Amino acid sequence: MSSFLAQAFVSALVLSPITQALGVAKTCSNPQLSCQNTTVVSDLCCFNAPGGQLLQTQFWDTDPVTGPSDSWTIHGLWPDHCDGTYDSNCDSARAYTNITSILEGFGKTDLLSYMNTYWKDYQGNDESFWEHEWAKHGTCISTFDTNCYTGYTPTQEVPDFFQKTVDLFKTLPSYTWLSDAGIVPSSTATYTSAAILAALKAGFGYDVIISCSSSALDEIWYSYNVRGSIQTGTFVPTNPDGSKSSCPSTGIKYLPKTGATATATSTGTATKTTTTATSTSTGSFSGKGYLNAVTSGSTTGCLISAGTWYTSGTCATYTATTSGSGFTLTSSKGNCGISGSSFTCASGVTATVFTASGGYLAYDGSTAFYASAVPSGTTQEQVSTSSGSVEVQFSWQSI
Ligand SMILES: *[C@@H]1O[C@H](CO)[C@@H](O)[C@H](O)[C@H]1NC(C)=O
Ligand SMILES: *[C@@H]1O[C@H](CO)[C@@H](O)[C@H](O)[C@H]1NC(C)=O
Repeated sequence: MSSFLAQAFVSALVLSPITQALGVAKTCSNPQLSCQNTTVVSDLCCFNAPGGQLLQTQFWDTDPVTGPSDSWTIHGLWPDHCDGTYDSNCDSARAYTNITSILEGFGKTDLLSYMNTYWKDYQGNDESFWEHEWAKHGTCISTFDTNCYTGYTPTQEVPDFFQKTVDLFKTLPSYTWLSDAGIVPSSTATYTSAAILAALKAGFGYDVIISCSSSALDEIWYSYNVRGSIQTGTFVPTNPDGSKSSCPSTGIKYLPKTGATATATSTGTATKTTTTATSTSTGSFSGKGYLNAVTSGSTTGCLISAGTWYTSGTCATYTATTSGSGFTLTSSKGNCGISGSSFTCASGVTATVFTASGGYLAYDGSTAFYASAVPSGTTQEQVSTSSGSVEVQFSWQSI
């Protein structure tokens, strides 16, 4: 090393104590698609083998609840063989027990904060769950071998694994795909396996695998082949290979995440994602209808004409009118709008443009509204867009 380079190297270390110097993932020219090769491919830094079928797996945890009430959470990224079998725990020397520290060491604080919301352990120990996923599955991904990096920096494949998994997860909005087909969490409704699979296929483009526990939907697996390495290659969606869905054909429950907060209020990043995904939508909100209140998957009263929530009277008739990228609402009292974070309908109120997301009324991308309590008797509750002790969503009932 010339003394200039040595000096630059030393000062890089001194000046950036947080972000470590990084090796570079091998460049792959003209890589082949994993599981689709017709001859032996020798460079396993540019071709995932034997784990060439990559599964982005997701959880729906309701007991105990993990993650936002309107989002699935990440299980992992698994390198299956091309026939559904798989290897596990492939390199005990890289079964790291400090995933959080490693990610922090590489300056991946945004990634960590996203994982803290969306990559959840049902027992509450996210770090140990991440360690398990990395050691069991991540170490079996051939393109993460340490010799696949030029100038390998110890543990640098770890941020690559977690970042890629999160990036894929962000392109797989299971909750929205299901709700677009009318499949929404409910403590009473049941769905068919065919309807769930069709809704997910409509979103993903290929068949997926679902699994159930006690007839309740709790997992989705999306399959990919990869052209090139995990680090720099292209993920190509594909049909499952091997494993089969484990849900009954009918009577499947999709239970609500009771007590959880909706995505949009969890983190700034999540709000942005939700807004982008739902910013041009009127859904079924058109013409005249009632705004029914839904808490924990059940309808509990509705809004009356001033925009307050009531459970023991006649619902007000609202008129939804397309406006911009969404719609406005009016009641007999006047325009409805969010005024100082309260949902209010009165003369002189500036009409807010709402959107629909998953069949629910959305404000600023979020379907979560709040009140200080579920109303009972003759009490009316004010509905707010900021926090309150009860979360409520509103569905449209055309009349
Ligand atoms: C595809 O490449 C892998 C890795 O080299 C090899 O094990 C497999 O046999 C190849 N498949 C075919 C059909 O040649
Ligand atoms: C994490 O643990 C490994 C050994 O298992 C160690 O080499 C590495 O320095 C640790 N990283 C951090 C950031 O603590």
